[in-house]
Amino acid sequence: MKFICLTLMFVSGITDSRSEQYEVVGPADPVFAVAGEDVILPCSVKPNISVVDMRVEWSRSDRKDSQLVHLYEDHEDRNTDQIQSYRERTKLIDQELQRGNASLKLSAVRVSDEGRYKCFIESESWSDDATVDVRVEAVGRPPVITVDGFDHSGGLHLQCESEGWYPEPHLEWLDSEGVSLSSETTETHRNTDGFSVKNTIIVYHSGKIHCRVKVKRHMLETLIDTSNNMFISWRTSVIMSSVAAVLFVITGLLIAAFAYKNRERDQLLQSQKIIIKQAVTHLRTHRVNVILDADSAHPRLDVSDDGKQVRDGNRELNLVDEETDKFDEYLAVLGKDGFSSGSFYFEVQVKDQTKWDVGVARESVNRTGWMISLSPEDGYWTVGLRHGKYWTRDCPYVSLSLTVKPQRVGVFVVYEKGLIYFYDVESMSHIHSFTGQSFTGKLYPFVCLGFQSNKNSTPLIICDD
Ligand SMILES: *[C@@H]1O[C@H](CO)[C@@H](O)[C@H](O)[C@H]1NC(C)=O
Ligand SMILES: *[C@@H]1O[C@H](CO)[C@@H](O)[C@H](O)[C@H]1NC(C)=O
Repeated sequence: MKFICLTLMFVSGITDSRSEQYEVVGPADPVFAVAGEDVILPCSVKPNISVVDMRVEWSRSDRKDSQLVHLYEDHEDRNTDQIQSYRERTKLIDQELQRGNASLKLSAVRVSDEGRYKCFIESESWSDDATVDVRVEAVGRPPVITVDGFDHSGGLHLQCESEGWYPEPHLEWLDSEGVSLSSETTETHRNTDGFSVKNTIIVYHSGKIHCRVKVKRHMLETLIDTSNNMFISWRTSVIMSSVAAVLFVITGLLIAAFAYKNRERDQLLQSQKIIIKQAVTHLRTHRVNVILDADSAHPRLDVSDDGKQVRDGNRELNLVDEETDKFDEYLAVLGKDGFSSGSFYFEVQVKDQTKWDVGVARESVNRTGWMISLSPEDGYWTVGLRHGKYWTRDCPYVSLSLTVKPQRVGVFVVYEKGLIYFYDVESMSHIHSFTGQSFTGKLYPFVCLGFQSNKNSTPLIICDD
């Protein structure tokens, strides 16, 4: 009797140990998924037996409340209690179930899918589970580089922005040799869409500059070429990068600018700064339709009917006593529309005129009397020509040593940044920038033919072409 008993125990022990041989196996490493794409969460029974007749339950083991991701039971999917966000996105493959493979296909991965999953398999005689760690990476939008303009020292301000990344990406600037350039600390924001990053760099030399944004396994790069033969280098970079199997995206809006700078500060004004065509194209996207406001014009001035030209009409003045909005000493006129936010841009042809000022003015500026100076202190940000020399009224006067004579002046204003940037459109050379200004109220385009009289009858022309 004892013997039989022992034998039975022995036999049942064998049976038990046989069922314990089945094991649910998951991946050893975390599974990396890319937002928007599909991913397989591996899970299978070893040694392989069909799990068609078993219960397969996928759940989020890192969640407290609702956990069910996918349930297969009694030969079919039973997903009524499934977590809402997984609806219609999970799938087990029938043929694979026959082969002991209970891997879950998860489609259109979301950032919220990141976490720990449990694959639980249960038959009448045994059950086991395995854990799958899922890491999600979201590849954001291609970085966009914008030119913020030049500062006093001739440094070109470039800003790079990109959004929609997960986890928090790393942003860096690289020169053409791939050497990382130092810049300010990156601004990072988290929102439902992932992380967005923004960074500014100041460059003093020409050449290619890359803005690279990367997470562990993905990166996007945008190139800005500050030398002249841009299109050739774009193409080269694309080829080189694909060879390097780098996901390389160049956004449509690539702007390039080039600042040539003498490193010695005292020689700064002698240096010529050249902006290349693409930068001009970029600035022109902010062009506004400037129409000169004859009501603000000095009485000597002739403003054309379309408000696009102004000249000194050289006529005798009927001095009016009443208060007026007109300039009474400067031969000046404002644009009809003012701007109190964003960026705006306009061009004024100054060719053949020997006395002129171009820029912007605050709405509240004093327009009368000869005491006003066309300086930021008085609400004017201008550059101009007098006695054959170029000037800006920037505390108190600065003579600008320009190697070219501006023919058509481009004025670019970034209101929030307090930036006003002047350049000559014809030669694409930098004239002057005001940076770090603080504006209040509206800014109006300002065009001026000098003080009290101007014998040169050449008009200043607002260019819209
Ligand atoms: C188990 O796997 C082996 C080899 O991978 C295969 O030949 C066999 O058909 C599988 N068994 C079942 C039940 O699917
Ligand atoms: C399990 O099935 C998935 C498809 O659902 C497949 O990608 C994977 O290779 C299979 N695993 C094994 C070990 O056969």
